[in-house]
Amino acid sequence: MQVTTEHLNLDNTFQGLSADELQAYAAKRLPSNFDEQRKLLLRGEYDNPSEGRKVTHVLNRSRHSVVAAGGGRNRFSEVVRLLRSGKWLGATGKPITDVVNIGVGGSDLGPMMGSFALREFADDNVEHKLDVHFVSSMDGGQLYAVLPIVDPETTLFIIASKSFGTIDTLANVETVKRWIAPALAESAWLEKHVIGVSSNNQAMTEFGIPASQQLSFADSVGGRYSLWSAIGLPIALTIGANQFAKMLDGARFMDEHFGSAPLLENIPLLLALHGVYNREERGLNNVAVLPYDGRLRYLPSYLQQLDMESNGKQVARDGSPIDYPTGPIIWGGFGPNGQHAFFQHLHQGYDDFAADFVAVLHRQAPGFSAAVQEGLISQQRLSVANCLAHRRLMWFGNGDHYPGKHPSNLLYVDELTPQSFGALLAAYEHKVFAQGVIWDINSFDQPGVEHGKKVAKEVLAVLDGQRDESFDDSTDSIIKRM
Ligand code: F6P
Repeated sequence: MQVTTEHLNLDNTFQGLSADELQAYAAKRLPSNFDEQRKLLLRGEYDNPSEGRKVTHVLNRSRHSVVAAGGGRNRFSEVVRLLRSGKWLGATGKPITDVVNIGVGGSDLGPMMGSFALREFADDNVEHKLDVHFVSSMDGGQLYAVLPIVDPETTLFIIASKSFGTIDTLANVETVKRWIAPALAESAWLEKHVIGVSSNNQAMTEFGIPASQQLSFADSVGGRYSLWSAIGLPIALTIGANQFAKMLDGARFMDEHFGSAPLLENIPLLLALHGVYNREERGLNNVAVLPYDGRLRYLPSYLQQLDMESNGKQVARDGSPIDYPTGPIIWGGFGPNGQHAFFQHLHQGYDDFAADFVAVLHRQAPGFSAAVQEGLISQQRLSVANCLAHRRLMWFGNGDHYPGKHPSNLLYVDELTPQSFGALLAAYEHKVFAQGVIWDINSFDQPGVEHGKKVAKEVLAVLDGQRDESFDDSTDSIIKRM
């Protein structure tokens, strides 16, 4: 039960199914048109019926495609080059030293995770130092931390929003405008200090962003699938456009693998089938994502959106209600630290779960003395040893008090590289897709979240004193107190 490929490996021995059992389960659960659906996805022709468009994020992985990042890879690369070389000057003639990405959900989680994970792969022929920050939360919590450490004259803001209408992002931008005002005229700020990344060009233009600073992407690319598009700009600013392209290469490698590898060697398909089996046959409603390399510490949050926003559904593709379980709850955290926090419950608590362990077997430690390198390399071994040990304990248990039998995947790479990182994420995307096909749901809309936005607007109108409406005793009393 091991699959190895050039960029990503999977061991699913501790899922406890034999090859024959898995084949039989696939024959039972994979719909007869699965192959056809998969081909459509990989060609960018899969249907998203409720939003009336195709699903095209896979096309963003092509280095040459016209739908590549920014509605043209050239402009994207040019922006990256100018900012990374210090040649992009702000309104007062000073080079930009800080970039703040303002975006939420898919316009934050992927870029933030990728920039953090791949930092050390930055093209090092760049002298200029560029710091990339992330602001997502509607409460302004991150602005409190970022604004005091950046300078309006040397800071550029990426307004990243597929719709360009998300209240969280617009609220952060409004506060930033107030912060800019004493230092720069709004027109100068817009001209030299703002890049818009969106699929809504009209809204970017109405906001005042010059056309040359609008990087667009197709509205057929879902927010949670958008880090391959211009939304990935913070990653490219961190590591350079060439390294960013290598991340796309890794994802494309996984696209080809998903499209062609036979069932028992097909990583996304194996992840999908074991996941469905755990959900339906073992009744497991949650998966703990446990990365054992600190560079991947944001992977659980990223996968929460990818999986839960895609497959947390109770309606079928045709809109009819369904009465079977669909996508599980995804949670987790950085494995080694989780061992000292929530693992006690995993080993001996009452609840059942499945887990995905994610490990990086080797790590170089360039730039350190030989002695420190040796220390860091042995720490990587320590981490992998702990990953293997806890995975064993979860499966085999240990006497009466450690029940075991918690199924897990081990996804691992020899080294974390932009390619292996891209392959890992694409494998998860395709797992989510395959499960969506099996459960007959549309993985590419999010009506529940959209409805939440509507309800929030109604509450805000009352809080702002624009409307007088009663909700329920509890809500009304808090509103009154506020
Ligand atoms: O509220 C959910 C959501 O629509 C996500 O799907 C999306 O990634 C996020 O909000 C941000 O949306 P946008 O990029 O349009 O600002």
